[in-house]
Amino acid sequence: MKETLKKFLSPSAFRFVKRVGLGIWSIPFGYNLTKLAQIYKADKWGTHYYTPHYQAHFRKFKFKKIKLLEIGVGGYHYPDRGGNSLRMWKRYFPFGRIFSLDIYDKSHLEESRIKIFKGSQIDEAVLADMVAKIGNLDIIVDDGSHINAHVIKTFELLFPSLKLGGIYVVEDTQTAYWPDYGGDSENLNNPATITNFFKSFVDRINHKELLKAGYVPSYLDRHITSIQFYHNLIFVYKGLNDEPSSVNADDPGSVLVDKMYV
Ligand SMILES: C[S@@+](CC[C@H](N)C(=O)[O-])C[C@H]1O[C@@H](n2cnc3c(N)ncnc32)[C@H](O)[C@@H]1O
Repeated sequence: MKETLKKFLSPSAFRFVKRVGLGIWSIPFGYNLTKLAQIYKADKWGTHYYTPHYQAHFRKFKFKKIKLLEIGVGGYHYPDRGGNSLRMWKRYFPFGRIFSLDIYDKSHLEESRIKIFKGSQIDEAVLADMVAKIGNLDIIVDDGSHINAHVIKTFELLFPSLKLGGIYVVEDTQTAYWPDYGGDSENLNNPATITNFFKSFVDRINHKELLKAGYVPSYLDRHITSIQFYHNLIFVYKGLNDEPSSVNADDPGSVLVDKMYV
């Protein structure tokens, strides 16, 4: 059937028919991200086992008019390959707008509710321009280069553009242990790795309890409310981390000086 259609239709007509067909087939599975990943051939289930975690964390956004950004379209230098997870997100969030960024030009994979930018995830100007066009985001997923220094820099650049109540996700954190990606399997306290960068967020969440007189909380201290680690996957929740300490006399209270971003 697929081959016959390919023979008689132009590539763009074939893509259109495929898109409509998958759209109809996926209707009964709108709530099931694992099934949607299988239908759209996204490796978030099968190669990886991320979809049950995504579903648990993203359920609250299901019918909201959210803006989701995924770094990494997929397909690398092949211009017409990739976009599988973008189509999966589009189906899961019926009112969502899906944005993506890739170092290669993937613009012809755009469709209604899917917009793709070109550039590197560590290029400050590219990210600033993209965010200026999109506005603040509800969800950011980093599935790009997976290089440790890139993941950390991208987080630092994009986290301020996440809305309060938003979620930032980092995929494939196994590279934190792979030297080719700037990771380290020997020194598990190496501060340059993804896992150690994010592990330190536990102390940010609890910054009100630090027994350090005059401690000035950073932007991250004040805006990270939760972090959850799964196998190769991290979820960071953004909100106002302003619950006062019940016991700590050094609690800096409402000091709002921004250490990291001014
Ligand atoms: C693992 S694939 C993404 C898969 C896709 N998110 C999915 O789930 O279907 C990684 C993508 O990141 C892109 N990429 C690699 N380095 C990048 C960088 N520095 N900035 C932006 N994109 C990059 C690659 O071109 C590739 O298409």
